[in-house]
Amino acid sequence: CLRSVVRGCGSFLPARVVTNADLAERVDTSDEWIVQRSGISQRHIAADDETTSVLGIKAARAALDNAGLAPQDIDLIICATSTPDFTFPATATQIQAGLGITAGVAFDVQAVCSGFVFAVATADKFLASGSHKRALVVGAETFSRLLDWTDRTTCVLFGDGAGAIVLEAQEAEGAPTDRGVLTSHLRSDGRHRSKLYVDGGPGSTKTVGHLRMEGREVFRHAVGMITDVIEDAFAATGTSADDLDWFVPHQANRRIINASADKLGIAREKVVVTVDHHGNTSAASIPLALAEAAADGRIKAGELVMIEAMGGGFTWGSALIRW
Ligand code: ACO
Repeated sequence: CLRSVVRGCGSFLPARVVTNADLAERVDTSDEWIVQRSGISQRHIAADDETTSVLGIKAARAALDNAGLAPQDIDLIICATSTPDFTFPATATQIQAGLGITAGVAFDVQAVCSGFVFAVATADKFLASGSHKRALVVGAETFSRLLDWTDRTTCVLFGDGAGAIVLEAQEAEGAPTDRGVLTSHLRSDGRHRSKLYVDGGPGSTKTVGHLRMEGREVFRHAVGMITDVIEDAFAATGTSADDLDWFVPHQANRRIINASADKLGIAREKVVVTVDHHGNTSAASIPLALAEAAADGRIKAGELVMIEAMGGGFTWGSALIRW
């Protein structure tokens, strides 16, 4: 019986920081409104030459260094993104080429903000089957390129960045600990498309388009969907909120994070929050938060970590990982 064990993680953020005060010069908003409604104070925004694959390659390199592995040790790359460099080929193949890997397989998954959880679940199933040995799971986004910078209801909420983890198939039988991905639960419901979508693409305007969101509607659904899939993870593993060492949610909005943690009975000091300084980086937000909390010594080997996300589609999911 094989289990997908975390070998390392890493991340990359563009150097340019845009504060709420900077945004208040472009649209009719204020630092007070943005902080109060979303918890966001600043976000990183990619330069013109920093495409999603460029960010993803840097995060992947950091994760490989952290794992003590070489690119050639990887035989599976899954990239979660909604902001690919091109409509095709997949950003994962660009990351593969950027790392100098020519063996194995690389492909993207598209589940918007839930993309990283979907990618971890997918990689876990590949590794558990024995078909692949080591997976690089990347969440990389440049949402700044999808934003309507004249729409104050959306442009203040998002940021750019990338994060990655390395998962390795290890024999669970007889192992000294139960490290690895313990369970994952994915859901989607396409009826909600109009609440959060991009109004472009080959099947519509034939342009890249802009992100459109009914923020209040998304908020209304978020907490219930998030708590449902986390309760599924608890039920599948016989664990509870008290057993968690860390809760690493998708970083969309501080109020959604707090409301979800409170509803589940997860103590606030166990919640990793980066939305204040990263904004919502969609599929990149969880691996960015994991990398930050692992690097500063919060998340340690053997600890129990719950990740969860909800995003466009709607899509939502959770994964419980013994780090
Ligand atoms: N600055 C100042 N005022 C603003 C701004 C702004 N940036 N944006 C909106 N307002 C105004 C609105 O026009 C409205 O004014 P009105 O009352 O005169 O009409 C007022 O502020 C309140 O607007 P609401 O939308 O009701 O504000 P709300 O408290 O719901 O907060 C927010 C908005 C932050 C978007 C919230 O609804 C939210 O976080 N929703 C969830 C969004 C989310 O998580 N999205 C990501 C999902 S993940 C993915 O897949 C991408």
